[in-house]
Amino acid sequence: MRTYMQDVTIKRKTGVPMVGRGPYGMGRNSVSGNVATVFGCTGFLGRYLVSKLAKRGVQVVVPYRDEDEKRHLRVLGDLGQIVPLEWDLRNDQQIEECLRHSDIVYNLTGRNYETKNFTFQDVHVEGARRIAEIAQASGVARFVQVSHLSADLNSPSGFLRTKAQGDQAVRRAFEGATIVRPASMYGHEDPWPITFKLNNGETKLAPVHSLDVAQALSLIGVLDAEAMGQTYVLPGPKTYTLRELLQLTEDITYRNLISPDINVPKWLFSMTAGLGEKIAWWPMFNKDEVIRRFIDENPEVPEGCKSWADLGIEPDVLEDRAIMYLRRFRSHLSYEQPMSNAHSGAVKLKKEPFRVIE
Ligand SMILES: NC(=O)c1ccc[n+]([C@@H]2O[C@H](COP(=O)([O-])OP(=O)(O)OC[C@H]3O[C@@H](n4cnc5c(N)ncnc54)[C@H](OP(=O)(O)O)[C@@H]3O)[C@@H](O)[C@H]2O)c1
Repeated sequence: MRTYMQDVTIKRKTGVPMVGRGPYGMGRNSVSGNVATVFGCTGFLGRYLVSKLAKRGVQVVVPYRDEDEKRHLRVLGDLGQIVPLEWDLRNDQQIEECLRHSDIVYNLTGRNYETKNFTFQDVHVEGARRIAEIAQASGVARFVQVSHLSADLNSPSGFLRTKAQGDQAVRRAFEGATIVRPASMYGHEDPWPITFKLNNGETKLAPVHSLDVAQALSLIGVLDAEAMGQTYVLPGPKTYTLRELLQLTEDITYRNLISPDINVPKWLFSMTAGLGEKIAWWPMFNKDEVIRRFIDENPEVPEGCKSWADLGIEPDVLEDRAIMYLRRFRSHLSYEQPMSNAHSGAVKLKKEPFRVIE
């Protein structure tokens, strides 16, 4: 295949030429010339980002800790386009090996509970700083750090506080790093919601579709000057209280979720979660999560930050997508509805469907 001048792109920061082949961005068998490393690719958001990048013709390095956690990623790109490499967050040499050939580095590593090996500080601050410093020293052109919409240096939640500290650490370590702050995400990996409520279900969330966030990240990585040093705030288009979200789940699945109406007091749940953290060796609802359940997500985009419109993306409205993810949880009562309701996600049935039909 012949290579033309338009197939060559010179990276602004490093001056490294990239040679593309095939119809760039037109599918998994195109080659854009970009190489990206996605730390945290084995999680919920990671798989969608790897898929979106591979579809743009980007070769993706997928660092993994557990052999089985990266298997599903291999099929997301063409032969040789997905490159798994083992890594450890505390091993500088492995991190350097993972990003040695990359011009874009994403850091998605994050954990919403602490373990005996890794605290929030270790993962969100020290880990992020280490990856950013090594990326800077290796001449990587673009660094994208995934934070959280509610990240705040003064937050009562350790998770959200360290997320904000991590953003600062990355900004100091990598010149021109881009920070992305998505709201709570929804998608296929979401479990069945817990049936009791905290804060009377009044906590506000601005849920955002995981595929939209992945699409935004894949664009931000390949944008050069426009995205460098910017903060992208990515809330969902509508805000709901937790009670409204549970009601919507009830309406679509024909299952009774919020009756009996149990509101667990904060002190009681915090005490139980604290006890669980000490006794259980598997991840459970933890004390920090109880604190987060009382923090509203603010969908306003602060001045000077960018958002969906700057990327040309119109984010999905939850009601339009919910059926995709809730269909598998539907009760048999869905079969007794008229056909017009049976495949619709936007049914509003209040308490009606919970009657057992004789
Ligand atoms: N999910 C949401 O609603 C949401 C909302 C806003 C922001 N975010 C942020 O978006 C990012 C991705 O979220 P997610 O939902 O995809 O998270 P996730 O499913 O929990 O995945 C987290 C990823 O981080 C890696 N990781 C965690 N601790 C690590 C450690 N000590 N060493 C090495 N790797 C480690 C995990 O690797 P292993 O598979 O090896 O454990 C996994 O790949 C996170 O930074 C999260 O804070 C998430």
